[in-house]
Amino acid sequence: MKSGMIIGTGSFVPEEVITNDDLEKMVDTSDEWIVTRTGISERRKAAPEMATTDLSAPAAQKALEAAGVSPQELDLIIVATITPDTTCPSAACWLQGRLGATRAFAFDVNAACAGFVYGLAVADQFIRAGTAKRVLMVGAEIMTRVVNWEDRATCILWGDGAGAVVVAPSEDGRGILSSHLYADGKRGETLIIGGGGSRVSPISRETVDQDLHTLKMNGQDTFKLGVRAFTDVCTEAMEHNGLQAKDIDHFVPHQANIRIVNAVAKRLGIPMEKILVTIHKYGNTSSASIPVALDEAVREGRVQPGDKLLMAAFGGGLTWGATVLIW
Ligand code: UT7
Repeated sequence: MKSGMIIGTGSFVPEEVITNDDLEKMVDTSDEWIVTRTGISERRKAAPEMATTDLSAPAAQKALEAAGVSPQELDLIIVATITPDTTCPSAACWLQGRLGATRAFAFDVNAACAGFVYGLAVADQFIRAGTAKRVLMVGAEIMTRVVNWEDRATCILWGDGAGAVVVAPSEDGRGILSSHLYADGKRGETLIIGGGGSRVSPISRETVDQDLHTLKMNGQDTFKLGVRAFTDVCTEAMEHNGLQAKDIDHFVPHQANIRIVNAVAKRLGIPMEKILVTIHKYGNTSSASIPVALDEAVREGRVQPGDKLLMAAFGGGLTWGATVLIW
C-alpha cells in the first residue's frame, strides 16, 4: 500500500492588508494588545466581489504547476473550508469547474481550523486505497465574511487566504506516515457560526438582527483546550512513528495565536527555529493556515527532501489532529 506524498504546493492571499492600526479605528483595541495577546500585526481581506474559489483557484494552479500535474490528470479535489462560495454546490465543485478538472470527483471537508489536517488524511486514504492517484487538497477561507466587525474579541484574529497541495502515491517510502484525528461534538458551542444552517432557519431579518450569522468564540476555553489537544495529539503522532521532538525538522502548527504555538512548542520541546510561523502577517486563516505556511517555506527552500514534518491543528467542532510526513 503506497502512502500519499505531497508533490506540489501553492498558496494565494488577497491583496488588501488590514493592519492593527486599521482595527483601532473600528473597535476599542490597540496594536499593543493585539500583538502581545495574539502575535498578529496584519491580515489579508478578500475584495467584496471575491468568493473562496477566487482564492483557491490561484493557489491550486500554483500547486499543480509545482507538481507538474494538469487539471485533467486529477482524480479527486478536496476543499477544506467553512466559508464556501455557496452552501450547495460545494467549494470543491466550483473549483473543479474553474480548473476544468473534468475527471475529478469533488467534495468539501468541514473541520474548521483543523480542515487541512482532516482533508490531507482523507486524500491519503484515497491514495492508500488505490482509488485515486492525483488528489488536489485545498484549505481556503474568507473568514472576514463571517466576522462580526464590532466584536473586538474576534474580529482582530481572522484573515483570508488559500493553500493547496497535490498528493500522489509515494514511490520511495517518503510521504505521509500517519494522521491522528479527533473531534468533540459536545463542545460545539465553543466556536460556532450558528445561522445559515437548518437549526436557525429560515434566514430572516430577525436572525440577522440577532447576529446569528457571524462567528462566536469562547476564546479562553478554546485557548486552553487547544493547547492541551495540540500537545497530546502531537505527542501521539510522534510516538506512533518512534520519533522524538529532536527528530522533527519542521513543525507546521495551525496559526491561531502565537501564544498557543509557543506554549505547545515548549511542552513538546521543539525550538522556535523549527516552527513555520505566518500568524504575524496573515492572522488566523483557519484551514488555509497550514498549507500557506508550508508553501511559503517550500518556496524559500526551507523544506528539503527527507525532512520530517509535524503538522497539527485545532478548531471548531471541536476538531483536532496531527500528521507526520517525510518530505
Ligand atoms: O483557530 C481556531 C481556534 N481558535 C483559537 O485557538 C483562539 C484561542 N483564543 C485566543 O487566541 C485568545 O483567547 C484571544 C486572543 C481570543 C483572547 O485573548 P485572551 O488573552 O484570552 O484575552 P481575554 O479574552 O481573557 O480578555 C482579556 C481582556 C478582557 O478585558 P477585561 O475583562 O480583563 O477587562 C477583554 O475584554 O482583554 C479584553 N479584550 C481586548 N482588549 C483590547 C478582548 N479583546 C480585546 C481587544 N483589544 N481586541
